[in-house]
Amino acid sequence: MNLEITPPRALRGSTTVPGDKSISHRAAMLGALAEGETLIENFLMGADCLATIKCLAEMGVSFTGPDEKGRLTVHGRGPSALKEPGDVLDAGNSGTTMRLLLGILAGLPFFSVITGDASLRRRPMKRVTAPLSRMGARIWGRREASLAPLAVQGGALEGCSFSLPVASAQVKSALLLAGLLARGETRVVEPVPSRDHTERMLQFFGVEVIKEGTAVTIKGGQVLTGRRIMVPGDISSAAFLMVAAAVVPGSDVTIRGVGLNPTRDGIVDVLKAMGADLEITNRYRLANEPVGDVRVRHSRLRGVTVGGDMIPRLIDEIPVLAVAGALAEGELVVRDAAELKVKESNRIDTVVQELRKFGVEAEALPDGLRVRGGRPLTGASCASHGDHRIAMAMAVAGLAARGKTVIQDAGCIDVSFPGFTGILGSLRVE
Ligand code: S3P
Repeated sequence: MNLEITPPRALRGSTTVPGDKSISHRAAMLGALAEGETLIENFLMGADCLATIKCLAEMGVSFTGPDEKGRLTVHGRGPSALKEPGDVLDAGNSGTTMRLLLGILAGLPFFSVITGDASLRRRPMKRVTAPLSRMGARIWGRREASLAPLAVQGGALEGCSFSLPVASAQVKSALLLAGLLARGETRVVEPVPSRDHTERMLQFFGVEVIKEGTAVTIKGGQVLTGRRIMVPGDISSAAFLMVAAAVVPGSDVTIRGVGLNPTRDGIVDVLKAMGADLEITNRYRLANEPVGDVRVRHSRLRGVTVGGDMIPRLIDEIPVLAVAGALAEGELVVRDAAELKVKESNRIDTVVQELRKFGVEAEALPDGLRVRGGRPLTGASCASHGDHRIAMAMAVAGLAARGKTVIQDAGCIDVSFPGFTGILGSLRVE
């Protein structure tokens, strides 16, 4: 599917975005480990989260839904009710599905095999399989369990203490889930804090999780109790609309009910530092997560340098931040973000390559990128590289470019933001 974008006169109005991807995965998984029913509302019906449900269903978990409103009920019967899947589990394009499920599979006394699409089969898994093996799981895969497909013989884990070399919420979460199913205590220390949705949701399900700085400790064998969870809007999806409103002249867009977890809201701080006219109102909480409405009006932006602890707080927003940089005065520089190379695509290379097609001066750095702004963009024919966030970032560039932009192979947008094109259409002023 190709997506055609022409610049609107402005973007105006109020909208919501689909449920948070990270939180939807965790709600389904923790609901499956819990005793009793978990009712999830605003569950993200993107391909990634649907892959999680399908894998859990193959492990014997029973679900009702999701219906067209995103209501999903998980009929939890505790971890001991999970059974050996009779076939290979397919995580599709979803790193979160594969890595978090590996933590659960490692803790259960059966054999399983998990794989994914071509992109996921290239992504590094040793960061999860090595620590899980230290806890006692046996895991096989290509290059010494670095690459999926991965086969797991789980069960009888012993709690361990880990110091992670890179900040990764997926690795931390896999180890905490394994720790929940292990004997004794598991402690994970990160170099800088990554998103803490797993910790918050475990607490919401009644589990004691001890946080001290960047260390998290969990005691094995704790029981989760089914809960009702309303999933906040995904800030990573809202980010495309925030940047679009900031760069298209005359725009004024409000996105309601956006998750504003402080480990995820780096894009808000960086857009403000760039001079964006961005305001947050109506703050409230949903399922132990902060939420609010975000209003963005067009303004002149200036380039900034982003690195260090900020990176995990906006790791998935860097492609669209680069687009904001291309439309700002001066230079946008991103450092300390080598992790971008092992996302759904090598996002340092794909962002630089695609932005250049709009006439933007962009350069890849070993751990980030540099984008020179201030020159008008010309509509381009872009490749998505099968990466949902590259497709949407380039669509935002197209909104602010002269002439027509085409995004080839844009079907991947459904991985995280089904309805993206419809929402953009509803905000357009022609
Ligand atoms: C995610 C964590 C991040 C992020 C990914 C989702 C999660 O990855 O990039 O899209 O749900 O835990 P890492 O934890 O590997 O950095």
